[in-house]
Amino acid sequence: MKKGLFISIEGLDGSGKTSCILKIKEHFEKIGHQVVVLREPGGTPIGEKVRDILLDAKNTEMTDVAEMLLYASSRAQLFSQIIKPTLESGIIVICDRFIDSSVAYQGYGRGIAIDDVLAVNLTAIQNTLPDITLFIDIDPKTSLNRRFSVSETDRLENEKIQFHQRVYEGYLALCQRFTKRIKRIDGNGSIDHIYELMMIEINQCIEKE
Ligand code: TMP
Repeated sequence: MKKGLFISIEGLDGSGKTSCILKIKEHFEKIGHQVVVLREPGGTPIGEKVRDILLDAKNTEMTDVAEMLLYASSRAQLFSQIIKPTLESGIIVICDRFIDSSVAYQGYGRGIAIDDVLAVNLTAIQNTLPDITLFIDIDPKTSLNRRFSVSETDRLENEKIQFHQRVYEGYLALCQRFTKRIKRIDGNGSIDHIYELMMIEINQCIEKE
């Protein structure tokens, strides 16, 4: 069975993920590929409901473990219902956040044991990691400034700068641990520049396949 390319994009809020994903999608469609773009949490009817619970700024009483499991349940649904069959039919899947978000936010950010977060989430995704993960690197201060320039912020975005600093350090640790899969992209330039850096990594990944 032909397998599609599986790409995930990671980074702090405001890193330019969404704009870059659109450009990557356009590029592959122009050269004749089918592309499915998904976002996490969400991407399925069940997952979108879970997303509403997770991001609702009123849900201040949510425990860290409940939060971790909710993200994992949205991911499990997305993986089985959409990602797996889409990849099996040879279509390119681009995921706006995936397992590394949980390791960075719930593991490093909340302080849940990294191996526990990994174990739960590897079950959710049936051990299917992306072919390539691009981490758009902007520092927490830049992220904070960009986030507060938008009108409403969600439950996670409302966390203190120290939380986002731990998440950021978590991402850097992940880049060092999974050097083959996760590529760090300098997120300080223009969207066009970030996109170009991302395409260099994606093309190298395709050549290796
Ligand atoms: P988004 O703003 O990129 O749509 O993501 C929603 C928020 O959820 C964002 O602040 C990061 C957070 N998040 C986690 O904490 N863990 C996860 O596993 C995922 C996918 C997102």
